[in-house]
Amino acid sequence: MLTLIYAADRRLVTLLQPQRSANEPLSRQAATRSPQKLPKGIRFAHGIPVRDPNPAPSLPRRGGPPQRARIRGVKQIVVVASGKGGVGKSTVAANLALALAHTSPLGRAPRVGLLDLDIFGPSVPKLMGLEGAGEPALSDRNKLLPMQNHGVATMSIGYLLPAGDTPVAWRGLMVQKAVQQLLFDVEWAEGGDELDVLVIDMPPGTGDVQLSLGQLVVVDGAVIVSTPQDVALIDARKGVVMFNKVNVPIIGLLLNMSHFICGSCDAPHELFGSADKFVRAAHELGLDVLGKVPLVTSVSDGGDAGRPVMVQSEATGEPVREVMRGVGEKVWKWLLARPHENHGVRG
Ligand SMILES: Nc1ncnc2c1ncn2[C@@H]1O[C@H](COP(=O)(O)OP(=O)(O)O)[C@@H](O)[C@H]1O
Ligand SMILES: [Mg+2]
Repeated sequence: MLTLIYAADRRLVTLLQPQRSANEPLSRQAATRSPQKLPKGIRFAHGIPVRDPNPAPSLPRRGGPPQRARIRGVKQIVVVASGKGGVGKSTVAANLALALAHTSPLGRAPRVGLLDLDIFGPSVPKLMGLEGAGEPALSDRNKLLPMQNHGVATMSIGYLLPAGDTPVAWRGLMVQKAVQQLLFDVEWAEGGDELDVLVIDMPPGTGDVQLSLGQLVVVDGAVIVSTPQDVALIDARKGVVMFNKVNVPIIGLLLNMSHFICGSCDAPHELFGSADKFVRAAHELGLDVLGKVPLVTSVSDGGDAGRPVMVQSEATGEPVREVMRGVGEKVWKWLLARPHENHGVRG
């Protein structure tokens, strides 16, 4: 008889229970069972396994949980996430991809990609100057070919939806399907050359997409973007906790819109709250602050024009470029120090 029982550590254990003859006392059975062969943590009373009196709720599952894998054609992955929308995640993700391209320690130009996983609010096409660039072509393997600009390979649901203001109104299952396609149906390797790093722009919050990503893909690190306000910081903390739960290591926090430098004085104006308070909160979480990006109009203007500040040359953007180059160097350092574990590849 096949019996499913819970071990004390709440893992579901499958146990082959020996047949008992009808007139054999239960106590004798328990005595004849060799205890060293039993899975650890299982107790018996009167010859039958004792269940945890308060077991964790579980849904019946077919097969095991999905195995985390690497994405075919991608060596390493960095996600840019935040607990809230509007803190500058997509802007940071686009500029981080370019910063990584500009600060490579590899001794050659790296291959960098940018994947937009924000299904309801894709912004990579606009930020990277690829709005209206048409639909992606398909490879021989029937995979989507990335759209390229500023030296970065990109993919977004925005390339696949009809142009215009029609919002995506999908139920969870459709979103899941779209996320899986964006993760595993893109031909990132070009002529056999893999991407050295793929930056993923996440949707805001701690929902399905974040959980799916953590469960399906081996992510090498997360950069959590936040603004200095208390509310943003509370949500950033939630993001940190969630990534810890799904085993995504956190590289550090990035403080965006930390201060404003006006044209008429040199003093930094902390419009949204104290940067020092943010740094203290980060240290309480045991995290590094990778950089403090000022609020500069050329960042938003560049985003609207499809020319991220990292590819501009005007002096007004230089303080941001300087910070982002520093962030790029720290992220490379993190990536190069990552252990090379053997995971499967999907896609
Ligand atoms: N450092 C910055 N300086 C000026 N504007 C910024 C900065 N960071 C982001 N923005 C602007 O803030 C708005 C929201 O940024 P976005 O990247 O779309 O946020 P999210 O992806 O978190 O929703 C955009 O208009 C963007 O141009
Ligand atoms: Mg965004």
